[in-house]
Amino acid sequence: MSTDTARAAAPGGLAGWERRLHTGAHPVAYPLIRGLGKLRPVVRLPGLGVLVSEASLVRDVLMDASYSKSGTRASGALWTPVVGPRVLLNMHGAEHLELRRRLNGLFTPRAVEAIVAPAGERFRERLAAGLENGGSVEFVGLVKELSGGVISRLLGVPDDAPGRLPDTELFTLGTSITSLVRLGRPRLTAPQVAKAKAAVEILAGPVRNAYRSDDPSTFPGRLRVLGLSEDEAVGIVSAFVIAGTETLVSYVPRLAAMLFDGGRLPGLAADRSGLPDAVNEGLRYTAPSPMMLREATAAGRLGGVRIRPGDRILLSTVHAVKSLGGFDPGTPVPPAARQLWFGAGAHFCIGMPLAMAEINCALAALLDEYRRNPWSIRSRTVSRNVLIPHYKSLELTRAN
Ligand code: HEM
Repeated sequence: MSTDTARAAAPGGLAGWERRLHTGAHPVAYPLIRGLGKLRPVVRLPGLGVLVSEASLVRDVLMDASYSKSGTRASGALWTPVVGPRVLLNMHGAEHLELRRRLNGLFTPRAVEAIVAPAGERFRERLAAGLENGGSVEFVGLVKELSGGVISRLLGVPDDAPGRLPDTELFTLGTSITSLVRLGRPRLTAPQVAKAKAAVEILAGPVRNAYRSDDPSTFPGRLRVLGLSEDEAVGIVSAFVIAGTETLVSYVPRLAAMLFDGGRLPGLAADRSGLPDAVNEGLRYTAPSPMMLREATAAGRLGGVRIRPGDRILLSTVHAVKSLGGFDPGTPVPPAARQLWFGAGAHFCIGMPLAMAEINCALAALLDEYRRNPWSIRSRTVSRNVLIPHYKSLELTRAN
């Protein structure tokens, strides 16, 4: 993986950096997806599937049970060989609904606080220590640690457990599974499946221990109370690591950079009332989960294009929501696109409360530091050849 280092003030500012992140992730696929979306709301791409780019049509597909996530041409093809068939993001219909129903109430505000707070405290301390006395801090690394700390709670590993893997290693383990996926590659190769399974096995060990110790104060213990079997608990925790690691480590540094580039930090640091709008608008503008997959199980029409059973449907969240305009917190989002960055319908992001808690905790710490003494971005690098566009590094330093 190579990087692209540049001074903070890139031509094009906020939008310019976001473009660089996209072309860095994939120099052809992202511009092509955006370009096709501008041309037509639905287009059949021979050998790849049917690309759907308009928010209301994306939502229609998500709300229509005849489009499945479990088929071999949807997410099932990617994840079932690695984590088995029952991990939400590869399930469909009544079975999926039943498992979602059992998980209702999993992320209560209290539960979320218990998962995020310890890692959040470490994040805050590391940020403050890094910026102390004119120092600098590599922010992407800090967010990885935050995410790794959350993973350790999901695995049910106490912070003081002997031999506990450090937070960054837990993050690396999580991304060793998801980083195998690429746009335009519908399934993993046999060696990739073996690699991903080995990582899942490492994650499974502590989950099984915590589940067996039957302690409802741990996350696997709570899954047991909710009636999940041990294997289901392992599957669910794996699904959370798969779905919730890279999205977050993509988003938080991008939001920090957009607030800096857009000159919004002084206002937000002084008055936090605009923060929820800024976070929401950032999610719209970056679409950290850029594409959703489905398989058509029935014949039909979508935006004038004939759909056949077995068609692979590529839902371009990134175009559907990003095409609504530039980053502008406070501008209302049309109903069809509202929260589409977290999906819609039966598979709507179950981890949203946890994601929001992690985002808010990181942003609160950043703004507190800014209010104490403004920081700025000293340098940044963009990751290349990745599924989800993200900064490889973002170095923050005191402005004076
Ligand atoms: C900014 C962060 C996040 C974004 C943008 C995001 C986005 C999404 C989207 C768009 C979906 C729907 C996918 C589809 O319908 O095909 C989804 C599903 C899901 N998300 Fe998130 N997510 C985020 C963070 C998280 C976190 C932190 C977790 C867990 C801890 C998580 C766990 C899940 C799971 C398990 C599903 C599958 C739900 C199901 O199929 O029933 N996500 N997410």
